[in-house]
Amino acid sequence: MTRPNPLFPYLYRIGMPIFDRLFYRRYRREAMRHAAGRLLMVGCGPGSDLMFLPPTVTSVAAVEPQPAFRRMARARARRHRIAADIVDGIGESIPFPDNSFDSVHVGLVLCSVDDVAATLGEIRRVLAPGGRLVVLEHVRGDGAMGRFQDLIAAPWSWLASGCKPNRRTVDAIAAAGFDTGGLRSIRRTLVPPPCTPHLQGFATVVETNPPKRR
Ligand SMILES: C[S@@+](CC[C@H](N)C(=O)[O-])C[C@H]1O[C@@H](n2cnc3c(N)ncnc32)[C@H](O)[C@@H]1O
Repeated sequence: MTRPNPLFPYLYRIGMPIFDRLFYRRYRREAMRHAAGRLLMVGCGPGSDLMFLPPTVTSVAAVEPQPAFRRMARARARRHRIAADIVDGIGESIPFPDNSFDSVHVGLVLCSVDDVAATLGEIRRVLAPGGRLVVLEHVRGDGAMGRFQDLIAAPWSWLASGCKPNRRTVDAIAAAGFDTGGLRSIRRTLVPPPCTPHLQGFATVVETNPPKRR
């Protein structure tokens, strides 16, 4: 993982509830409603998305590399009586066996992982057949917005603990072997640049070896 800014979890914990109240809550809830069954959250941060678990989710696990974020997420889960197994780990090397989840959630995380392709490969590995990748990400925009994001990517990444605002995340998800038909781009959001537009919805694993017909 790129050397994280040790202050980032604390600044995020203070700042994000404001953004959540202003606009993110709605996007978080809408994305999370696609989760079902055994859920893994990758890079759960302070656990804001735990508030939006739909009743279709039967168990919750999370991998989060930053100890301060893990503490915050565990405290939030305890406060809300949510049984969540929140462990140390990174998306590029998920510490769970193959096929162990029905849904994997990425929320404002694929912008921050060091290796998007490796993370998506790991997500595919831990997803059971027919499983879903549940997505809320900010991504590179088109035209002037995209060029601005390219320009600001390096200093922004330093400021925001490795967040790259110019990732073409839907292309990466498709390249990793997911059907992206359930994803939509939210072009106009109240989220200020460079963290807009957004990608929301779900992607499903494209089966490379379909079962043979008898
Ligand atoms: C912008 S925060 C988002 C946190 C949370 N998901 C949310 O929506 O509020 C980015 C998160 O990604 C985590 N992260 C960074 N690199 C990661 C990696 N390689 N694997 C998994 N999580 C990572 C950070 O520790 C942080 O919790």
